[in-house]
Amino acid sequence: MDEVRSAYQAAEGFEAVLAEELARKGVVVSRWHGPLALSGDGPVEAAWALDVWRSPVLIPVGSIKAGADALRAIQRNWDCLAVAHFRRAALIGQRLPPIKAREFGAGSVAPDAKLGGWTLLAPDLMLASAEKSSPFLGAVPAFAEDHIGPPSRAYLKLWEACLRFGAWPGPGEVCFDLGASPGGWTWAIAERGAAVVAVDRAPLEPRVAAMAGVSLRQGSAFSMAPEPCDWLFSDIIAYPDRLLELVRAWIAAGVVRRIVCTVKFQGATDHDTAEAFAAIQGGRLQHLSVNKHELTFMWRRPDQAGSGLSP
Ligand SMILES: C[S@@+](CC[C@H](N)C(=O)[O-])C[C@H]1O[C@@H](n2cnc3c(N)ncnc32)[C@H](O)[C@@H]1O
Repeated sequence: MDEVRSAYQAAEGFEAVLAEELARKGVVVSRWHGPLALSGDGPVEAAWALDVWRSPVLIPVGSIKAGADALRAIQRNWDCLAVAHFRRAALIGQRLPPIKAREFGAGSVAPDAKLGGWTLLAPDLMLASAEKSSPFLGAVPAFAEDHIGPPSRAYLKLWEACLRFGAWPGPGEVCFDLGASPGGWTWAIAERGAAVVAVDRAPLEPRVAAMAGVSLRQGSAFSMAPEPCDWLFSDIIAYPDRLLELVRAWIAAGVVRRIVCTVKFQGATDHDTAEAFAAIQGGRLQHLSVNKHELTFMWRRPDQAGSGLSP
């Protein structure tokens, strides 16, 4: 087996788009191990990866005990990506210190404990990475969902973005929610106690429109001039280059502190525009576990300390 210097985990169904992104970045994928793209090239940031293994090493596994001992000798916390050899992987896992699975919700903070990833490439060969980008078990945060309040499950995108961002809207803050209807994101923002101006041509669901702090502005977000606010949220369905223009205009106006917006793709992925979003100083682009063929752009004004943007 050739040396592996980085590995990238794709969400189910997004292997091809991740492969395209890696190829554009000069990363040669030597083989796929389930959803994990293995490469002999050094690690790069990859928006379409749920997780990036930054320091993988190949470890011969003579026995179940030897495999577990090798991991424990490196660090405490390990997450198994089980793709094959399930029974043997489970037996190794049983010999590792347990990690309590957590459910996240509004206002949650991402785990800060160091978490490594490992997988059995063969019964006697393990790939393990002490450094990886996702702090979540299974590379995906599990949410305690609210099945009553929000009008749809779209609010989970906002929750996951804020969890990864390390910052949430709160009381006293002013937010714009572009493309707000039927109101999942507006619901999630108003629930946090922030004031929210929902912008859409379509109406909000009446119970969301009636929440404290919510006001509706009916019309197109593209005809609005940037206005002072703490957060600009957008889940508009729009061509990525048009959204990029809008985001750049709000940033250039100097009126917004933080941005969370969904960049949606139709047909072929517009990698050029994705790269232009990723290049904006203070920003990050990520395929959230709840995203479909879309990426989430998270940005904070460079002078805004305390907004992590880490996981
Ligand atoms: C995916 S939905 C948003 C769902 C919403 N985030 C939620 O949680 O319920 C996209 C919305 O964008 C709106 N939209 C599309 N183009 C728009 C524009 N130019 N200005 C404002 N809203 C727009 C659509 O009317 C639609 O309601």
